[in-house]
Order: sequence, then structure tokens, then C-alpha cells
Amino acid sequence: MLRLKNVSTMIGEHQVIHDVSLEIAEGDFVALLGGNGAGKTSLLRTIAGVLHPHQGTIEFKGESIGHIPAFKIVGKGLSLCPEGRQLFPQLPVYKNLMLGAFRRKDKKGIQESLEQVYTLFPILKERYKQMAGTFSGGEQQMLAVGRALMSKPEMLLLDEPSMGLAPLIVESIAEVITKLNSMGITIFLSEQNALIALMITRHGYVLENGHLVLQGLSSDLLHNEKVRKAYLGT
Ligand SMILES: Nc1ncnc2c1ncn2[C@@H]1O[C@H](COP(=O)(O)OP(=O)(O)OP(=O)(O)O)[C@@H](O)[C@H]1O
Ligand SMILES: [Mg+2]
Repeated sequence: MLRLKNVSTMIGEHQVIHDVSLEIAEGDFVALLGGNGAGKTSLLRTIAGVLHPHQGTIEFKGESIGHIPAFKIVGKGLSLCPEGRQLFPQLPVYKNLMLGAFRRKDKKGIQESLEQVYTLFPILKERYKQMAGTFSGGEQQMLAVGRALMSKPEMLLLDEPSMGLAPLIVESIAEVITKLNSMGITIFLSEQNALIALMITRHGYVLENGHLVLQGLSSDLLHNEKVRKAYLGT
């Protein structure tokens, strides 16, 4: 479904992604691990078209998307739930959700997506008029995931959804993401929380200083000595 070949990305003068190649099959559930500044956000932003690679190619469903703007990539079925949620705090829940459907014209389909989001996250339905900025961190994360779902993605890029959340909330977010994958959405999940990411995903990649340094089955990475030392603290 997604194929990166030798992708390098610059931010200004600074090279943040170095020669990354990876493949994600349709339906897969894949973790992207790495510490602060490893390049996780830069890589996801490059895939989503917010940044563009200066070298290499990105294919989504067989189509080259490396130079297509982000808003058009969303329309192709690839959606990013960004780091830090990036909600509109002064807008109600409902309006934040509808912003995720801004490229869609199918009114009936949009309504169906909204019902689906409300079923996944009943609290968003109960409080649809509430300003997003008054939500707790966990509720805001659910809203951010809900907004990404409003574009009806086939593939979802999630950038550190557990950031800043209490362990119990992290667990319920992990459950929701697992459910989305079981509903058929291909998932690429960036996390500093390597333990939870490797517990729920099937495959994983490890990024260091913009380079992919390890990849494999999540169950193998969980037992990999380097991963255990660097990311699991054991
Ligand atoms: N706008 C920017 N200008 C210059 N350098 C940047 C910019 N954004 C990111 N970088 C640099 O790119 C590198 C990768 O950062 P990135 O945010 O992609 O890492 P990350 O793995 O997402 O980290 P974190 O877990 O802290 O979110 C870092 O060295 C960072 O300083
Ligand atoms: Mg980041």
C-alpha cells in the first residue's frame, strides 16, 4: 500500500530524513519507534505531503505521491493525525470533526463517517457542542483521531497519540487504534512509548538520527537487545 524508496528530506539546510526505504502492506499495523528528534514526525509529514522528499520516491496504492500537496493526499485515502493533536480549541467538537471531511462532497458518506466516529467515541457525540479546548488531553486525542477518520482514510498515520497522557488513557487509545486496524485501516503509528507500540502492532521500524536502523516483527523487536536497552529501559 505504501512504499518509500531511498527517501531523504530537508528542513531548510538541515537533512532530517536520510535514505529511508520501507514498505507497508494493506491492512498492516506498523510501529515507528525512535527517541526525541529521531525524525518520526518528519518522516510522517513527508509521507503525508506536508514536507516533500528532495530525494527518493513515495508510492501510495501504486501512485507516486512524493510531490503532491497534503490536502490532495488526504483525498486519496491517506490521513495524518498530527503530533500535538492540532485541534481548533475555540471551535466546538462537531466543527473540528467536520474539518476532517473538508475535501469530501458526499453528504451521505460524511454523515455515515460522523456516525461511525460517534459510535467509536460516544463522548464526542454527548459533547458535540463543547469547545475542543475545554477537553482533557485524552478526549482531545480521541477528537484528533475522530477528525482524521472523517476523511475516510484507508491508511492512517498517527504521530505519538499517547504523548502526555496517563497510562490508563494510553491503554484506551491503544484499544481504539487496534480496533481501527481490525476494521481494515492500515496503520503507521509513531511512538516513543515503544512497549505499548510493539505490544499492539505486527511490524516495527526504528529510526535514529533520521536513519532506519532496525526493522522486523514487533514480537522480535520486543526481544531485541538493542531495542530493550535503548527504548524499553531493560
Ligand atoms: N522546523 C524545523 N526546522 C529545523 N529543524 C527541524 C524542524 N523540525 C524538526 N527539525 C529537526 O529535525 C529532526 C527530527 O525532528 P522530528 O520532530 O522529526 O523528530 P521526532 O522523532 O518526531 O521527535 P519527537 O519524539 O520529539 O517528536 C530534529 O533534529 C529536529 O531538531
Ligand atoms: Mg515528533
